[in-house]
Amino acid sequence: MRSVVNPFPEAALVYKEETCSTMEDARKCILSGCSHGTVISAGFQQAGRGRFGERSWEGQPDENLLFSLVLEKRRCAGDVSVLSLAAGLAVVETIARLYGIETGIKWPNDVLWQGRKVCGILCEVVKKHSIVGVGINCNQKNFSAELRGRAVSLAEMTGTKVIREEVLECFLSRIKGLLDCNDIPQRVNERLLFKGETLAVSVGVSGKERLLSGVCRGVGERGELILELPGTGERKQIYSGEI
Ligand code: BTN
Repeated sequence: MRSVVNPFPEAALVYKEETCSTMEDARKCILSGCSHGTVISAGFQQAGRGRFGERSWEGQPDENLLFSLVLEKRRCAGDVSVLSLAAGLAVVETIARLYGIETGIKWPNDVLWQGRKVCGILCEVVKKHSIVGVGINCNQKNFSAELRGRAVSLAEMTGTKVIREEVLECFLSRIKGLLDCNDIPQRVNERLLFKGETLAVSVGVSGKERLLSGVCRGVGERGELILELPGTGERKQIYSGEI
C-alpha cells in the first residue's frame, strides 16, 4: 500500500501486511497511549471481527480496505451509536465523491449498493476512546458461497480496479469533518434504506432474540431505529438489533 496522508494531525497511520484483527491492534495502541485519529490498516486479517461475536469478517489478501480508526470520545459529537452512523455516512459520501455512485445505509451501519453489502462497520469503546472498524470490499470479485450475491466490491460497482489508498484518504477526511456535526441522524436519514417500508427487526440478546415488525420511520437523535408498530401506531425505539 502506498503512503496515505492522515488528516488527523500528529496521528500515526500504520499499515500491516497481515494481522489478527485491526480492532485488537487499535485496542493495544489505546492502552499504550496513541493519538486521536490513529489508523491501523491491514492487507489481511486472520481473525477479522464482524458486528456479532460469532461472525467473522472475511476477505482475500490485499484486495480490500480493512482498518480501525481510534478516536477520543470527547472529540466526537454524540455517542458511539451516532459515531457508527457517521462512519457509514462517511463511506457513502466517499463512494459518491470518488465514483459518483449512490449507496445507502442499512441501519445500524452497513453500506449497501443494489441490495448488496459493500462495507461493514464495527465500533467498540475502550476507556476514553472509540474504535471505528471499517471493512470496505474494494477489488475482490470472488466471494465465498455464503456471501455470494450478498456482497459486492467497488471494483464490481465501477467496473475498474480501485485504489485503496484513495478510498482511505477520502474516508478519513470525510469522517474528520463529520465529528463536530450535530446533525448526523438527520443526514443519515437522507441516505437511510427502507424508510417507510415494513421491516422485521431482530432484537434481544443472542439466543433470546425476538422479531419486531413495523414501518421504518428513520433514525432518532441517539442513532436508534424508529419502528412504527402496526395497529397501535406506537413508535418503538430500537438501540440494538438487526434488520
Ligand atoms: C460487520 O458488518 O459485521 C462489521 C464488519 C467490520 C469489519 C472490519 S475490517 C477492519 C476491522 N477489523 C476487524 O476485525 N473488523 C473491522
